[in-house]
Amino acid sequence: MSQHAENLRAITKAMMAKGKGILAMDESNGTCDKRFQKVGIQTSVDKRRDYREMILTTPNLGDYISGAILYDETIRQMSRDGKPLVKICQEAGIIPGIKVDMKAKDLAGFPGEKVTEGLDGLRDRIAEYYEMGARFAKWRAVIAIGENIPSHACVEANAHALARYAALCQEGGLVPIVEPEVLIDGNHSIARCFHITDATLHSVFNQLHTQGVALDRMVLKPSMVISGKGCPEQASVQEVATFTVRCLLRNVPALVGGVAFLSGGQTPERAAAHLNEMNVQYGDICPWPVTFSYARAIQQPALEAWKGEDANVKTAQELLLHRAKCNSAARRGEYSSDMEKQLVAV
Ligand code: 13P
Repeated sequence: MSQHAENLRAITKAMMAKGKGILAMDESNGTCDKRFQKVGIQTSVDKRRDYREMILTTPNLGDYISGAILYDETIRQMSRDGKPLVKICQEAGIIPGIKVDMKAKDLAGFPGEKVTEGLDGLRDRIAEYYEMGARFAKWRAVIAIGENIPSHACVEANAHALARYAALCQEGGLVPIVEPEVLIDGNHSIARCFHITDATLHSVFNQLHTQGVALDRMVLKPSMVISGKGCPEQASVQEVATFTVRCLLRNVPALVGGVAFLSGGQTPERAAAHLNEMNVQYGDICPWPVTFSYARAIQQPALEAWKGEDANVKTAQELLLHRAKCNSAARRGEYSSDMEKQLVAV
């Protein structure tokens, strides 16, 4: 294996390190501001910087988090004391990653469906991010479930873009996180979510194969197979674990470097419980490590406690570390709801 391939493999292994997972903190400015506004935090470049600095300076975060996905603004930002945030990340033992997609846009000819853009100029952007210290990347495709959707056109267009992005990342020295998110919105059953996730993963791995992506040097970031948010009948933790692992086993080749789930709007406790159940019940038969790459399910309690105030930093960091710790336990199949009662002191 070439040195280039060895390096990608080593990064993939480090991202999937035992007992650790990935922290997604790559909200675009628009999404970050929306989340700030919801809890009454003023929106500005500096507030976003303060928030990201608060997260990355959480003591011992690197014990539970292997990598952090940053946004373009963040990877270029300095802390209040003038230290690059990317350096703070590295010093915490956390590998910096970067979101490189340019968001999901309306898919022409298919109302209600999206295709993720960002392939133009991507080779150059990857080179720049690599120089800045990023060692992995993320691209999110969005598949909505509804009446007569997703269309074949939507699934194929997104899978194709994901595969071209992944190939460019590997060429440029970044490990690609391939994220096809089947949205939780809607009143569909878990069976329908299974069917759509199955078709989506099948198409994604077909395209990854066509584009020559090395599977042992990438991470899959799927959504869980779960009941739609508005479905009157909500599947149990056990059912979600069983459907999800079954869907993965049908579609994800054994060579894939790892699976790191998104939380997709689940409560923090549910996201931890689902991941835990998969590792408890099926950890032995899954050929890849199964961990988390959550944003909301790790950040939300901390964001609400922080409120944009310096005085709340310590409490917010405690809450963030607590969620990281709970999900780290779930990664090992050692999470229990009792853990929610013990808040760790930072
Ligand atoms: P959530 O865990 O909040 O779904 O976010 C993960 C992510 O990276 C979305 O792209």
